Amino acid sequence: MEPENALQKFDVLIEDTGERYACSDSRSLLEGMVALNRKGIPLGCRNGGCGVCKVAILDGDYETGVMSRAHISEDDQRCRRVLACRVRPRSDIRLAVVGGMKKSVCRPA
Ligand code: FES
Repeated sequence: MEPENALQKFDVLIEDTGERYACSDSRSLLEGMVALNRKGIPLGCRNGGCGVCKVAILDGDYETGVMSRAHISEDDQRCRRVLACRVRPRSDIRLAVVGGMKKSVCRPA
């Protein structure tokens, strides 16, 4: 059993909709978003290969796993555009949806 303080939870704000969710440091930003139970969040590959979950990190610290260069260019990376399925929060995060999810995340609930 893990000690109680093993997981840190951070607050994630989706700038486009004003929604917030808690995301632990062991989950990806996409997993946390899916837990919101919003309809229409596409079930992509969840391993950095399809590019559907692209977001821009407007504020906050994070750690990234491997992301396909086909979806995240060096320029994207410099501008903090990342794949939500490959990013774990290291602080509170404010993000904007920029990829294929935008239509579904930003439509009225
Ligand atoms: S879900 Fe496919 S790249 Fe994130």
